[in-house]
Amino acid sequence: MAKSDTATIAIVSQKGGSGKTTLAVNIATRAAQAGHQSCVVDTDPQASAAAWSDWRGDFLPVVVTSPPARLIRTIDSARKQGMDFVVIDTPPHADAAAREAIKAADIVLIPTRLRAFDLAALEPIVDLVAMAKTPAFVVFNAVPAGAKVLTAYAEQFAKGLGLSICPIMLGERADFHRSSAKGETAAEADPQGKAAKEVDKLWKWLRKKLV
Ligand SMILES: Nc1ncnc2c1ncn2[C@@H]1O[C@H](COP(=O)(O)OP(=O)(O)O)[C@@H](O)[C@H]1O
Ligand SMILES: [Mg+2]
Repeated sequence: MAKSDTATIAIVSQKGGSGKTTLAVNIATRAAQAGHQSCVVDTDPQASAAAWSDWRGDFLPVVVTSPPARLIRTIDSARKQGMDFVVIDTPPHADAAAREAIKAADIVLIPTRLRAFDLAALEPIVDLVAMAKTPAFVVFNAVPAGAKVLTAYAEQFAKGLGLSICPIMLGERADFHRSSAKGETAAEADPQGKAAKEVDKLWKWLRKKLV
């Protein structure tokens, strides 16, 4: 599915706090741990992924900032540097940035929490992914333990919008937010933890999708 040797993953959602940056840094780091060249392209003016990288210090993955208007050039230069995986982190409330990222990507992940306001924010994404024809998957994030009814409703809602759903969900886990604040990933904070296992499963699923 990848358009070149470099697989590009866009993380998009119109809602702040849905888990875009968390997903971006955890996936890119998992790729680096698997021995791949990977980077995060942070197109959010708030530059949270870049801040995470500053806290992290001189460790992989590379995080570069790029205004959406320069995204294609930034990805091109990542490709020339031999990157295997480019993960694009995007800002909320920004159609243009999301559109550019979706256009440039081989696959789009749309993290969302399960609450009604979060689910409602899926609607504007539908047209964007349909126009670009890039495969896109909703990733339910910060799913509370035992939230079966809520999850079933959210699945039905997303399917009703015509969106595909990633079979791997990320639970509401302290490892995700505690680790980010230290410039780490959940798997680095607790390699045997549930969050680490979820990221690992998501990574393996993503690999298969990108073959
Ligand atoms: N699965 C999760 N479990 C617990 N906290 C999470 C989870 N995903 C994200 N968070 C926390 O939620 C907040 C918002 O996440 P973030 O990735 O910054 O969202 P976005 O980039 O979409 O604005 C952060 O404090 C982050 O640590
Ligand atoms: Mg963010």
